[in-house]
Amino acid sequence: MALNLDAIGKKFGPVTFEYDWQKVVLYALGVGAGFDDLDYCYEKNLKVIPSFSIATIIDCMTEIGLESGVDPSGLLHGEQDLIFHNEFPVEGTLSTEAEITNYYDKGKGKGALVIAKSETSHSNGKKLFTAVSTLFARKDGGFGGENAPKNEIEIPDREPDIVVDERPSRNQPLLYRLSGDTFALHADPEFAKMAGFEMPIMHGLCTHGYACRTLINHLIPGEPEKARRMYCRFAKTLYPGEPIRIEIWKEEEGKVFWRVSNSNTGDIVIDRGIFEYGDIPKDEIRFDDKVAIVTGAGRGLGREYALELARRGAKVVVNDYGGGADGADDGSKSPADVVVQEIKELGGEAVANYANIADPEGGESVVQTALEAFGTVDILINNAGILRDKSFVKLEEKDWKAVLDVHLHGSYHVTRPAFRVMKGKGYGRILFTASGAGLYGNFGQTNYSAAKVGLVGFMNSLKIEGRKHNINVNTISPGAASRLTQDLMPADMIEKMDPKHVAPLAVYLCSDRCTVTGNIYNAMMGFFGRVAICTGPGAAVRRGDKPAAVEDIISNLDKISTLEGAIESEDANAQMGSFLEHM
Ligand code: NAI
Repeated sequence: MALNLDAIGKKFGPVTFEYDWQKVVLYALGVGAGFDDLDYCYEKNLKVIPSFSIATIIDCMTEIGLESGVDPSGLLHGEQDLIFHNEFPVEGTLSTEAEITNYYDKGKGKGALVIAKSETSHSNGKKLFTAVSTLFARKDGGFGGENAPKNEIEIPDREPDIVVDERPSRNQPLLYRLSGDTFALHADPEFAKMAGFEMPIMHGLCTHGYACRTLINHLIPGEPEKARRMYCRFAKTLYPGEPIRIEIWKEEEGKVFWRVSNSNTGDIVIDRGIFEYGDIPKDEIRFDDKVAIVTGAGRGLGREYALELARRGAKVVVNDYGGGADGADDGSKSPADVVVQEIKELGGEAVANYANIADPEGGESVVQTALEAFGTVDILINNAGILRDKSFVKLEEKDWKAVLDVHLHGSYHVTRPAFRVMKGKGYGRILFTASGAGLYGNFGQTNYSAAKVGLVGFMNSLKIEGRKHNINVNTISPGAASRLTQDLMPADMIEKMDPKHVAPLAVYLCSDRCTVTGNIYNAMMGFFGRVAICTGPGAAVRRGDKPAAVEDIISNLDKISTLEGAIESEDANAQMGSFLEHM
């Protein structure tokens, strides 16, 4: 039986799952809870272990397995990511919609991966969790697909901060399977032998439940509702009755790495675990149902914007031409593909677009990708950029043009079709990217500076056209370590200049909570500040009714040049009004 590659993008569900306190408790007992964790096992003050999520979508996963065409005798759970959005009620009906998002080929004899993503809501109307599940199809490799991107998660190379030993019972799978995963491999000795094992093996998800319970008990005791995300890779099978060791590394506030090993053999059973926890942010800025385009999102700042928008629920078009820093070569698909994959691993939605936005058709195609994949465009971040620095006399026309083509014309090529969609729906957020070189000047960057301040002019006028359609247009002037800049920075600056320190402002300016339009902001190293074009008070210099002489300019130059009492003008008309006051 071959993999069914046509199943990519096919929607499953809604698949419903009804549950009550008894199913919650059965699951808890299945993952080793008992009198020590009575909150999970006794209907009085009952709480749900959040990894129960996965037990509630088993039917959906089975359907996906069948539809994908994997050979069930070679099927193992590869990776599991769970993102928890709200507290898990102790009873109700869940509704899950899922789709197969990718197949990866590890090669003949090495297996294939089937990636499926699902969203589950509770009958109380709240979105409960997102699951991204990777099925490892051991017998289905060599179908000619691309290999999976490298998993970048690394467990810290130091002693763990917390170590907990547990011993699942020899009969654990017989109890765990009552929560829904009745696959014979975990109960039937004959089947297990046929599949190459000495005896039935533990469900990976049972060990996962042990880990979830332990993580909560040590990080957020008694508050499972504070679990925000649990990710892991299943590395090796485990026989029931083997002792396990759960190791936890505290990495940053609200985030740990974890893994589980077989204490007898030292083999790692579950690897590369991430667990995130904290309060459900009450005032969180979200982008659910919003579609965002980020140009040049395959690297640097654009990548960070795309990731943050996706983390907050936006569907993202990751545009990147993938060329060199001077934009001179043919480009490559890989930067955009890598970021799309990163977003999917976060449980988000994204599609790649590889167009060169310097071409009018390329720019148009970026918006087309958004419309085809997600049906609309709400947010556009014009971020793609290249550099061709040369002192002015050496700057040939091709370098002048290439830089204007990407920054200024490229922004036009994408903004125009996006603006049309936003105008039609009465909502939009557009961000342009300027630079300190443009706003203040920098040696060897006349082309780049002209393009960057050209965008400020573009914004100044577009904000007026956008105003009555609820389209806010702003400009960010960032500073960050990226391939465009990091060679110029001392090593200790590179971390401080992480694009992560710029993204919060960019993302705010793209949100429905953004109340400003027509503003320019500096953003770097966590410093944010506004930049504006201001007009000094000036001076009326005339000779009676006659024009001033050139010499009068010299004698009045201080008054003409002063910025003391300078004001900002809403637009050219308002500025003209302030001139007229001097008449
Ligand atoms: P980066 O080089 O890491 O990322 C820019 C991305 O844009 C690249 O992945 C590139 O492939 C893509 N790109 C270039 N030309 C393209 C085209 N024609 N079509 C589609 N994609 C294209 O650079 P970084 O630093 O992240 O820059 C992002 C933006 O921020 C640029 O507009 C840059 O001028 C601006 N900026 C950056 C500063 C910094 O300190 N990093 C300072 C001031 C402005």
